[in-house]
Amino acid sequence: MVFKRFFSLVVSIFTAGILFWTSPAFAKSLTVYFSKAGENYSVGEVQEGNTARLAKLIAKTTGSDIAEIIPENEYPMDIKTLTEVSKQEFESKARPVLKDNPDISGYDEIYLGTPVWWADMPMVVYTFLESQDFKGKTIHPFITHEGMGLSAIDRKIAEVTGAKVGPSLVMRGTMAQKADEETQSHVDEWLKQK
Ligand SMILES: Cc1cc2nc3c(=O)[nH]c(=O)nc-3n(C[C@H](O)[C@H](O)[C@H](O)COP(=O)(O)O)c2cc1C
Repeated sequence: MVFKRFFSLVVSIFTAGILFWTSPAFAKSLTVYFSKAGENYSVGEVQEGNTARLAKLIAKTTGSDIAEIIPENEYPMDIKTLTEVSKQEFESKARPVLKDNPDISGYDEIYLGTPVWWADMPMVVYTFLESQDFKGKTIHPFITHEGMGLSAIDRKIAEVTGAKVGPSLVMRGTMAQKADEETQSHVDEWLKQK
């Protein structure tokens, strides 16, 4: 009898534990981004791209996992060649093959970071978005640019993925690159709107 009670207590604690760890409140989120180091507008030659700097701040603040979208053929480091290559990709609606395609299947909430290229997302971000199943997931976009702003990227993400899309964090690349207290306060304000 005592053993039976003890056994049922152990089963109850175990079940409660499983329910807690798998509940939405405990579910882990993912920060996924594309960004480019090297020569860029307004920031010169950088070791780490603007969106990458912002992504790391967001992942740290939210406690989320972090993953990078990496194309198989890396983009040129100099801005002139990059401009030519990316324009050609944009005009031909290319879908560059990925070397690292982050797996989003275990996450319900995704912070998605992209720079603005040609008033749109880089084509490599489309490769990523089109290759994943976003059903039932929520995307929180964060976008870096050098003057053009959001460029309807939130709407494009919603169209491509069918996911629920939250308010976007839109920031100049120069500010994202600094990753200082001001950058952090913009991140904090954005996260409050979720
Ligand atoms: C090829 C290319 C195209 C760009 N096109 C735009 C644009 O259309 N509008 C804009 O505001 N910024 C544009 N930018 C500036 C980037 O959006 C900005 O520098 C961004 O922060 C870069 O992010 P990253 O360092 O993470 O790659 C462009 C930059 C590059 C390299």
